[in-house]
Amino acid sequence: MLIRPRRLRRIPAIREMVRETSLAPNDFISPLFVSCGKGMREPIGSMPGQFRLSAESAAQEAKELWDLGVPAVILFGLPDTKDAIGSRSWAKDGVVQTAVREIKEKVPGMVVITDVCLCEYTDHGHCGVLKGTEVDNDATLELLAKQAVSHAEAGSDMVAPSDMMDGRVMAIRKALDKEGFQQTAIMAYSAKYASGFYGPFRDAADSAPQFGDRAGYQMDPANAREALREIRLDIDEGADIVMVKPALAYLDIIRSVRQETLVPLAAYNVSGEYAMVKAAEQLGWIDGKRVMLEILVSIRRAGADLILTYFAKEAAKALQGRR
Ligand code: PBG
Repeated sequence: MLIRPRRLRRIPAIREMVRETSLAPNDFISPLFVSCGKGMREPIGSMPGQFRLSAESAAQEAKELWDLGVPAVILFGLPDTKDAIGSRSWAKDGVVQTAVREIKEKVPGMVVITDVCLCEYTDHGHCGVLKGTEVDNDATLELLAKQAVSHAEAGSDMVAPSDMMDGRVMAIRKALDKEGFQQTAIMAYSAKYASGFYGPFRDAADSAPQFGDRAGYQMDPANAREALREIRLDIDEGADIVMVKPALAYLDIIRSVRQETLVPLAAYNVSGEYAMVKAAEQLGWIDGKRVMLEILVSIRRAGADLILTYFAKEAAKALQGRR
């Protein structure tokens, strides 16, 4: 036999030499759920290993992540009160604004990204303001822009709109520039699907829609070309980084976006993807650590530069000392 692919598989160091895809802590962005109060570190039932954190606990968590080589966090806020327009989302003393200031003070090098959306702040749980039972796209843009500016004022390095309203990247870019935040980057949730994999997140963030669903603004899982269209639109509107979400059931989308675009690409390994691994691991059905690393390297192999993942800390630990 002339050709024996196994020659390159037998010796660990050779396997490493011919490895095509790298996975390292600096590929990860760790989501953090920030809440009001003090000294809070409340476990989230459907996401073992994840917590609702008050500002100083979030800073502590950020420090641990930073020390493990994870360069960035993305913050989701659990406000003290909700209303029809989500007004706590742009409050100077809001949960996210407070946590940004705390993390920036305690871990100055950490890249702090803030999720921009109304669903955690509205009493109806939709990602924008309502007109009747429908989300009013253009009225929502103004509020998202206000929220983004308020995050930037608090010190956020990058805002990440996850609402899927049309035109929001441009609305946010214009508002940031007008207020003097030309250097605040935008990571757009560009191809965000209406997915059942968000279940544990909505539980964690108390953000499930009180009626209907998000199909009127999030994408149909059956569509691939539409993802490219959304990506192009967001880049034209000024997105610095684009995102595909969820990741695992959408590896084909990640691949085609990678081939089509030059900007950095992020993929969101969402709450349901995390919860499935944790649940099967707890039942003793899979080797959780092994599956975690396999999933993460697969997302990178598909073409993502960055991965938003609840595994960030655990994976960074698992990768420590690995060459
Ligand atoms: C807010 C938002 C959601 C997620 C991130 N930002 C939930 C949703 O759209 O309902 C989901 C993240 C996850 O499941 O881990 N719009």
